[in-house]
Amino acid sequence: MFGIKIIGGNRLKGEVQVSGAKNASLPILAACLLTSGECVLHGVPRLRDVEVMVEVLQALGARVNWEGATLTVCTREVKTTEIPEILMRKMRASNLVMGALLGRCGSFKASTPGGCAIGSRPMDLHLKGFRSLGARIDQQYGFTLGEARKVKGTFIHLDFPSVGATENLMMAAALAEGLTIIRNAAREPEIVDLQSFLCRLGARICGAGTHEIRIEGVSTLGAGEHLIIPDRIEASTFLAAGVISQGEVMVFNAVAEHVEPVLSKLREMGAQIRVEEEGIWANSKGKYLQSVDVKTLPYPGFPTDMQPQMVALLTQARGTSVVTETIFESRFKHVDELRRMGAQIRVEGRAAIIYGVSRLTGAVVEASDLRAGAALVLAGLVAEGETLVEGVHHLDRGYHNMEEKLQSLGARIHRATLKT
Ligand code: UD1
Repeated sequence: MFGIKIIGGNRLKGEVQVSGAKNASLPILAACLLTSGECVLHGVPRLRDVEVMVEVLQALGARVNWEGATLTVCTREVKTTEIPEILMRKMRASNLVMGALLGRCGSFKASTPGGCAIGSRPMDLHLKGFRSLGARIDQQYGFTLGEARKVKGTFIHLDFPSVGATENLMMAAALAEGLTIIRNAAREPEIVDLQSFLCRLGARICGAGTHEIRIEGVSTLGAGEHLIIPDRIEASTFLAAGVISQGEVMVFNAVAEHVEPVLSKLREMGAQIRVEEEGIWANSKGKYLQSVDVKTLPYPGFPTDMQPQMVALLTQARGTSVVTETIFESRFKHVDELRRMGAQIRVEGRAAIIYGVSRLTGAVVEASDLRAGAALVLAGLVAEGETLVEGVHHLDRGYHNMEEKLQSLGARIHRATLKT
């Protein structure tokens, strides 16, 4: 078992490079199942979640070769349409292969995912969409089965702009007969990236990034090569790390448009932000950070995946901040751990009320999920003394070389073996 030890107090200074986006890599890898041609993906981060998706593809019959940040995937044949239960349990995003399996093979079988640390996460929108596309969906004995003799283009209005449902339905519709229109679609940059990739393979899709995506089904898809977009949450986390430490960081490869909701809050807090051609620079040296209110929303609103890190950052701002979480119902598990470090935060329903500035002190804390872990690392950077973050496997799901990258910025952080 590993933990991350941090000795707080160092001002971060320097440059850091953002990796490819986890949440773009996962659906794009799933989309490789739609073609028997070879797919070459560049900029894929070597993360635990990506490794699990690779295992899913291999279990379904794909050959996958991983060299550095380049993955080559070839699924000449899909040998089964059953997603191994153990992999579904390891990562709920394994459900992203459902749409591709339905599109290519006309069926899928997967264990029905339960809730998780950040709330109950139903699949109703995915399944309702599959049904509209002509699939029969059965749920029994803990499994979900989908079957369609022919996937048929249709009109789908999503009740909520779910990222995963939009992606699954785009994949299922890519090989459908006729036109599919997804209205109230999610607009995240990862959806635009999935569209770009599918179009490289020969799909006819437009509208990603807006509320309406139009998919003209084609009979087959071919081979293709694609560069994954930079990870906007990783970029935002490093910018927040610079700001919380009263430091000065340059985050290379960050796309300003994708992180704008976070940049605008950092500016409002009083940090200096400069968007340059190669990345984003943030500086808060000598600045008194001010409280701000934040509400998570679907893109282009403030991302829920940055909410925990923002809560940690706001413990260092003067005044009272209110952070409202509207996407996931129980995404405040980091608050108790931050309190153990001295943060003054009260949770009322879906809002966290943060009273700053708190003097944080090092403690042993537990990451309950990926972004909660990132929040605790940020808090550790400014806490007096030593912080030990347990539950590091969560961080490995979504941050590539986080300790090394923070070390390069001057943080005193390292991975330590824990006595059990
Ligand atoms: C994706 C991201 C995740 C991010 C989230 C919201 C990936 C692999 N994961 O997750 O990091 O936090 O978007 O930006 O890309 N919902 C339903 N029914 C459904 C589907 C969703 O009620 O069928 C609800 C969920 O419970 C949640 C909300 O919709 O409350 C948003 O979920 P969704 O956008 O689907 O998130 P994911 O795709 O699971």
